[in-house]
Amino acid sequence: MKTLFINCSPKKSFSASSYLAAFQRLFVKGEKVTKKLRNKTDYAGMFQELQDADTVVLCMPLYVDGLPSHVLAFFEEAEPFFLENGLRPNLYCIANNGFIEGRQNESLMRVVENFCQRAGINWQGGVGIGGGVMLNVTRVILMVQAAIFFALYLISGIQTGKFWNTGYLAAFLPNAGVFLFLNAGVISFLLLMGLHINKASFFGKHYTRILIPSLVFVPCANVFFFILSLFQGGLFRGWLAKK
Ligand SMILES: Cc1cc2nc3c(=O)[nH]c(=O)nc-3n(C[C@H](O)[C@H](O)[C@H](O)COP(=O)(O)O)c2cc1C
Repeated sequence: MKTLFINCSPKKSFSASSYLAAFQRLFVKGEKVTKKLRNKTDYAGMFQELQDADTVVLCMPLYVDGLPSHVLAFFEEAEPFFLENGLRPNLYCIANNGFIEGRQNESLMRVVENFCQRAGINWQGGVGIGGGVMLNVTRVILMVQAAIFFALYLISGIQTGKFWNTGYLAAFLPNAGVFLFLNAGVISFLLLMGLHINKASFFGKHYTRILIPSLVFVPCANVFFFILSLFQGGLFRGWLAKK
């Protein structure tokens, strides 16, 4: 069984969609291929992979309460492609949005479901995830913390000759616990959807979010985006982007 994961975020790297696709891959058996859909140059490779895909998992951001326009443009070409080639893969969708409520992805899910009907392919449901930006930040923070943990572990091991009992692990584990807690809703739903993908069965639409109360999320998001605006739209992305 071949599953094609399509990362529809227009970002080159570190998108929430790529993070969620990677998580979903952990729970899916069989041959797995991940492709990026960013513009028209990706169509040929995508159609090639779609020829023998049993399952397609679309991972995308919510834009203005709907699908990103480049995904709609792809759907226009994909519809006749599926019909003319008689292809009927199972399609699942992982949508994420910046605001806290995952249910805001409902309209996006309906568009994807309608597309499946028009293209004659099997709509099997999906997960709408709120707080996508913040979830993405939690994984970047965990990656940095893990890198620092291994560096400290290595340095102290080389200096003292002891590679255990350094105390660094005790400092890292609570951070990993917080990461798992904030991502618990996402992990649970992606695990459940993975079980349905493996059985090629209907999952339906489900919504979850980062597990923090809105009254904490909103001020944190306000501060985050205020700081981001000082760097013209992105800390690293803003500095590195071609002006
Ligand atoms: C043009 C644009 C429109 C957006 N519209 C919405 C929206 O309507 N509702 C929302 O909650 N988030 C919205 N967002 C936030 C994205 O959904 C959010 O940043 C998401 O995590 C990006 O996913 P990605 O990293 O996979 O691209 C928008 C972002 C952009 C750039």
